[in-house]
Amino acid sequence: MKMQTSSRDLEHNQNHHPGSSGSATGTHPHSTTMNMRDKEKYIETFLFPNCDLTEKYEKVTKIGQGTFGEVFKARDKSNPKKFVAMKKVLMDNEKEGFPITALREIRILQLLKHENVVNLIEICRTQASQHNRYRSTFYLVFDFCEHDLAGLLSNVNVKFSLGEIKKVVQQLLNGLYYIHSNKILHRDMKAANVLITKNGVLKLADFGLARAFSTNKSGVPNRFTNRVVTLWYRPPELLLGERNYGPPVDLWGAGCIMAEMWTRSPIMQGNSEQHQLTLISQLCGSITPAVWPTVETLDLYKKMDMPQKQKRKVKERLTPYLKDPYACDLLDKLLVLDPSKRADADTALNHDFFWTDPMPCDLGKMLGNHTTSMFEFLAPPRRANQMRHHSMPRPAASTITDGGYQDRVF
Ligand SMILES: Nc1ncnc2c1ncn2[C@@H]1O[C@H](COP(=O)(O)OP(=O)(O)OP(=O)(O)O)[C@@H](O)[C@H]1O
Ligand SMILES: [Mg+2]
Repeated sequence: MKMQTSSRDLEHNQNHHPGSSGSATGTHPHSTTMNMRDKEKYIETFLFPNCDLTEKYEKVTKIGQGTFGEVFKARDKSNPKKFVAMKKVLMDNEKEGFPITALREIRILQLLKHENVVNLIEICRTQASQHNRYRSTFYLVFDFCEHDLAGLLSNVNVKFSLGEIKKVVQQLLNGLYYIHSNKILHRDMKAANVLITKNGVLKLADFGLARAFSTNKSGVPNRFTNRVVTLWYRPPELLLGERNYGPPVDLWGAGCIMAEMWTRSPIMQGNSEQHQLTLISQLCGSITPAVWPTVETLDLYKKMDMPQKQKRKVKERLTPYLKDPYACDLLDKLLVLDPSKRADADTALNHDFFWTDPMPCDLGKMLGNHTTSMFEFLAPPRRANQMRHHSMPRPAASTITDGGYQDRVF
């Protein structure tokens, strides 16, 4: 495992004018006559000594188009059995320097090493040359995971037993327990950001919106940005403008994902923040000081239209899907309006749901029957009201095969 790129290396990328200092090639530092070859060699030697070139990988197919860049499946040329996912760092809007958002994502990924968190192997770059005006493209290189949960749930042939669902949710909560213990908030929980390897190991992915948090010292409240988390998975405190939030925002998303294991599509598909709040009230009951004493202090509480006299119907509405009473009870404890009363990852992991028969069981065998990777990007839309915006058209239908595994590309 190698991850040597320092943020200094990266930050120097575009600020640093090749040939503006030093004399790597024996050329005078201020010489304007440094030839192309010398410039390239200079960049090679000084700017990114620990950042390998993308040539070591061979792109296989595109598997994702995210807000912040494309994701490709690639093969490690030195070990053809090894696949990686390469996430391109979008530099388009950066006039200078390496994007701070990508730096944050990298710093967080470097900190987090856990079985249920996607593993960042290294950062790679394309060769800087006159063809790209000496601006490398950077890629975050991850261990490859064959599936994402959104893709799996969109495939009607993929059927999870109760024990398998328990295993998915348990691993999801294990990942959250770990990142929260390390004082990191994910802030973009959704099925497309949950990866699963062919052996059934779940990995939390996409730390593009993640941040470190600390419990407020000397009572000074945090003022984090409020516009985080994909709308359908956004908890009520964020919708009401809370900026002093914490781990419960991710547990709300975990609850939404858990329910989706049975419903197979997101349970609250709002088309605006107001609509999302309305859907939440219809499922979890009216948002009032009686159930959430501090809610009146939130900026938007008086400004939004708050549906009144709504009964809490979490168990009633989800029982037809979930059937299992322990599952309903755990969901009832995750989808709690007041974040201070919402179950945390540790409490959820101790719930009887995980400690009663059928016990959580391995997913590897079931996934072994599905050797077609189905990423959300590649899967047909699961719902009429898609919230993802693909800036690129989907590729034409084809099937790419490697080592018994197929990537279905629509
Ligand atoms: N390690 C990986 N293995 C396999 N697929 C991956 C991996 N990392 C990312 N992907 C795929 O690429 C998609 C986009 O990746 P990611 O979520 O990290 O990027 P993003 O730009 O932040 O996306 P978005 O804005 O859609 O959330 C994922 O939903 C997943 O399908
Ligand atoms: Mg994502």
